[in-house]
Amino acid sequence: MKRKQDNSARYFCEVEVTEGLEHITKGELTELFGAAVALVPADRPGEVRFTLTGSLGELRRLQTIYAAYVVCDYAVPRPRALLGDAHFRRLLEQIESVRALNPNSYRSFSVAAAGSDSSVMARIKEQIAAQTGLALADDRGDLLIRIRPSNAGWQTLVRVSARPQVTRSWRVCNWQGALNSATGHALIRLGKHRPNDVYLNIGCGSATLLIERLRHGKAGRVIGVDIDNNALQCAQANVTAAGEPAIQLLLGDMTSLPLLTNSVDHVVADLPFGQLSGSHTANVEMYPRALNEAARVTRANGQFTLITHEMRLLDRLLRESPYWTNEQSIQINLRGLHPRIYVLRRTLTSF
Ligand SMILES: C[S@@+](CC[C@H](N)C(=O)[O-])C[C@H]1O[C@@H](n2cnc3c(N)ncnc32)[C@H](O)[C@@H]1O
Repeated sequence: MKRKQDNSARYFCEVEVTEGLEHITKGELTELFGAAVALVPADRPGEVRFTLTGSLGELRRLQTIYAAYVVCDYAVPRPRALLGDAHFRRLLEQIESVRALNPNSYRSFSVAAAGSDSSVMARIKEQIAAQTGLALADDRGDLLIRIRPSNAGWQTLVRVSARPQVTRSWRVCNWQGALNSATGHALIRLGKHRPNDVYLNIGCGSATLLIERLRHGKAGRVIGVDIDNNALQCAQANVTAAGEPAIQLLLGDMTSLPLLTNSVDHVVADLPFGQLSGSHTANVEMYPRALNEAARVTRANGQFTLITHEMRLLDRLLRESPYWTNEQSIQINLRGLHPRIYVLRRTLTSF
């Protein structure tokens, strides 16, 4: 870890991502930073590690991550050793490298560590407060510092943004069962997109996938359909906050869409899992009809990217469907649930 914010500085970094979608973030890193990033092996699922040569602030451009950290390793057996002069100076340099990105954003800090109530951690926090002038906050401090054991000793990680990157400024309305934006963005990156595509989100809820689609790149037309007027009001608030007036929101049923046959290039859906949203009984009735209706409106060779927790139901429906080929499916870990993302291709079979 180096403090200097110039293009030759090299940082050891880690980003938190949805388990199962690490490869999407690796692709995003390569696309954004090319040879400036060199991947290194990660210890746990849901982590991507790399060295970055350049400016740390550039990590804020990543869309598929929950949060990015700059990492510092110490070959010490116990965290008490971090209070030693040389080690503590390195920790302060690490903190300053992040503060320097936005000097006015940081007034407080939090420490997340195993045993964070221990007397050693209390001394580390006291010292950080004394040396940086930042106020200690229990949690949700502007600057987040994680302290944890590593293979070689101990590690400190400092988050490079004051809020986790998954928190989008456009999200002014929360919707129960909304997909987090980082996972939504990764799901979008699993599809192939063209700047003139007609893009349809069935069951659009609060518009996460619509907004993230336009953050990813241009589209010809972007349409969201939901059966619930409250969801559409929430979506409208988010769409307005995002400054994306071209997104069209329609009240409608995904089993009978207000759209022409063969009029859409790409359908996307975060289908009701049957837990927070909908029920299994309702899904058994709705999924086959929604799958057929999506096939009706999608052009031959178009795509349907979806996420669901109803894997058994969907796998059976796909085996029976003449309209969809399953090109890829990925199981992910979403806060303890293990839904699957499917990337389907519309066959040439006419509707
Ligand atoms: C899991 S939520 C989608 C959340 C959304 N991705 C977001 O981030 O806010 C599923 C959505 O499907 C909608 N829905 C359920 N049945 C529907 C149907 N038959 N037609 C259209 N929308 C439906 C619900 O109103 C809900 O907003």
